[in-house]
Amino acid sequence: MCGIVGFVGRRNAVPVLLEGLKRLEYRGYDSAGVAVLLDGQLQIRKCVGRLRNLEQQLQQAPLAGAPGIGHTRWATHGEPSDVNSHPHTDSSGRIAVVHNGIIENYQELRRELEQKGHIFRSETDTEVIPHLIENELADGAANFEDAVRRALRRARGAYALGILFADDPEILYAARHGSPLIVGVGDGEHFIASDVPAILNETSRVIYLNDGEIAVLKADGASVFTLDGRAVRPEIKKVEFQAEAIERAGFETFMMKEIHEQPRVLRSLIAKHIDSNGHAQLPGFSLADEYIKGLARIMIVSCGTAYHAGMYGRLLFENLAHVPVETDLASEFRYRNPMVDPGTLIIAVSQSGETADTLASVRLARKWGCKVLSICNVRGSTLTRESDAVFYTEAGPEIGVASTKAYTAQLMAFCLLTLHIARIRGTISDSATRELARALQRIPDAVHYVLGRKDDIQKIAGKHHDGPSSLYLGRKYNYPTALEGALKNKEISYQHAEGYAAGEMKHGPIALINEYLPVVCICTRTEDEVYDKMISNIKEVEARHGRIIAVATENDRTVAGLAEDVISVPDMRDEFSPIVNIVALQLLAYYAAQARGTDIDKPRNLAKSVTVE
Ligand code: M6R
Repeated sequence: MCGIVGFVGRRNAVPVLLEGLKRLEYRGYDSAGVAVLLDGQLQIRKCVGRLRNLEQQLQQAPLAGAPGIGHTRWATHGEPSDVNSHPHTDSSGRIAVVHNGIIENYQELRRELEQKGHIFRSETDTEVIPHLIENELADGAANFEDAVRRALRRARGAYALGILFADDPEILYAARHGSPLIVGVGDGEHFIASDVPAILNETSRVIYLNDGEIAVLKADGASVFTLDGRAVRPEIKKVEFQAEAIERAGFETFMMKEIHEQPRVLRSLIAKHIDSNGHAQLPGFSLADEYIKGLARIMIVSCGTAYHAGMYGRLLFENLAHVPVETDLASEFRYRNPMVDPGTLIIAVSQSGETADTLASVRLARKWGCKVLSICNVRGSTLTRESDAVFYTEAGPEIGVASTKAYTAQLMAFCLLTLHIARIRGTISDSATRELARALQRIPDAVHYVLGRKDDIQKIAGKHHDGPSSLYLGRKYNYPTALEGALKNKEISYQHAEGYAAGEMKHGPIALINEYLPVVCICTRTEDEVYDKMISNIKEVEARHGRIIAVATENDRTVAGLAEDVISVPDMRDEFSPIVNIVALQLLAYYAAQARGTDIDKPRNLAKSVTVE
């Protein structure tokens, strides 16, 4: 979604803004722009398309000045176009605004302002903000800050804002409500950004703004106020990861780098959480044992990839911790009547911690008296601040839009949480716990093994990438793997892919199978009947001449005899095989995308974190 960067200090803002916007490219965007103050005038450059278009414009018509604001826009209201790009200004061109979020009542505000003579130029919801501020200044606001406050009290919806006034040239204003925004604290300068990576090369000291707060930033100082003017003491936090974490480190894409980081991420989660007795320890975990023992139900809410992680978590909790679990897409949960009560624990899963629907679900659940546990990758994100307990997946910044390492870290989080909850509830014996812990410890090496097969996987992708569609089938623990594998393929290769529970194939999708359709079958060996059932499904595909690509346990001759191509993975316990199997499918999607020539790190239309509904 949209990215915001802002700077106030004693040097030229433009290079800072451009560098910051480049570091936010992963969020997804279709146009970009900057505004700086120069000799009491606001100077703006903006255009549709990638940042290089803006850079070209800046070469032709250079800019220098400070403070400044920059923006990458992901269109919601109004098509991607030069005029709809941010920054937007008021009628006089003396107020410039960049915005992430949606102003829900913009139509009614726009009508009112137009009646008063304001001239609007774009189709965006954002443009009402500078006009509203202009209106409040004309209507007797005490000063610029008061005008911002008064304007924002009238806006409904979500916003993160950067605001400049030509007539208040020392100050950068920022505000947040429902969309992420941080303040970076430098030496004699301040920054704003949608996300930490944008400014990490400048400073690692940040203030996480809360909803309903306005920051007034000068080169030498930062003050924070609420919308009703109350001063808030800003808490400066140190960001833990280093700037190198957001470099490609020699890989051709961030996604490939992140796929390769998985063994390390998983290993360190295991090392941190499994003690020498094989028990899962969750330091700082703030859900009391008594509460866990009395848990009546768990409800897992999330979106996209994180939803698939939740589906996996459900199976683990039910099978090992014996808790009834439901999963729901956050966007659906909000609009049904899920009958949760204070005995229900809500688990919200989110890489970014900023997904609008997930946050809305959590707020609803809290209103109903439920406790919220979040599984999240981003410290300081809104979700973590609104949860009763947090399990940090600690995968490091994920820049590739398609989630990879955050997903396997979420799966690992569910494994560790399940072991913890199952032990407290007494549903697994000590020896079973130790055995599961030993099996968990083998996962990083197994993932490493799959990474070592990437040349084989590339060849397989090369054979199948050019068709219009593909089908992914899996059962039980690997049903979510099928959904996630198909999602990866869709996201980055733009090839239609459908994930299905293999048992459902006969109820419809079997009609699709012919000699052209690639059917990815996840059929790793298990100790229960699921394996036999998968073999039957593969035979059904074979009988209809589908092109079977199997993910199978190494040396499985049965599967090898049925499939056109086999991706071998090490022998794993049933419960943990999804963490390994999905890595094979991430690579399969990756190489299909590469063969199809897509922009793998920034797939079209997608945003890294979906901060609007
Ligand atoms: O940040 P979140 O985990 O809450 O994001 C949820 C989805 O938007 C996200 O998983 C999306 O599906 C990814 N692009 C998947 O690769």
